[in-house]
Amino acid sequence: MKTLQRTLTIIKPDAVRKKGIGDIIEQFEKQGFQILCLKMLEISKHQAEQFYAVHAGKPFYNSLTTFMSSGPIVALALEKENAIADLRKLMGATNPANAEEGTIRKKWATNIENNAIHGSDAEDTARFELSFFFAGYELAQ
Ligand code: CMP
Repeated sequence: MKTLQRTLTIIKPDAVRKKGIGDIIEQFEKQGFQILCLKMLEISKHQAEQFYAVHAGKPFYNSLTTFMSSGPIVALALEKENAIADLRKLMGATNPANAEEGTIRKKWATNIENNAIHGSDAEDTARFELSFFFAGYELAQ
């Protein structure tokens, strides 16, 4: 029996500015992810700080949260078997200098901060991150 898993991804402000939305969403569909829900929005600095609270205190926390609140983003709830690991593989390494050919970050990221895309890294963070952007009724299916 197939066990479907859900994950949260964000197309970050740099990739939106570069007009990468269509290409990145096409990759999700080609790689077998079901798009359960998506929304384009802007988040405040405070909301970015809440979302990335796990990184509070790290040297890049201030500039990361300033960057994430610098323009529109696209948040998507994705579903497939092994979604969390498969999405992270499709995204490529956090630092695009280390990202493999064919990954989203290789194509769209500029540097470790302006790195085009975020994906949940584990089941517990996926639950938190999905509920950060989507209400229960939006994912009820
Ligand atoms: P993301 O997958 O969104 O998770 C946390 C983000 O912090 C990461 O992508 C990067 O954009 C950013 N990040 C992680 N490490 C560094 C770093 N050393 N310097 C700057 N930004 C970083």
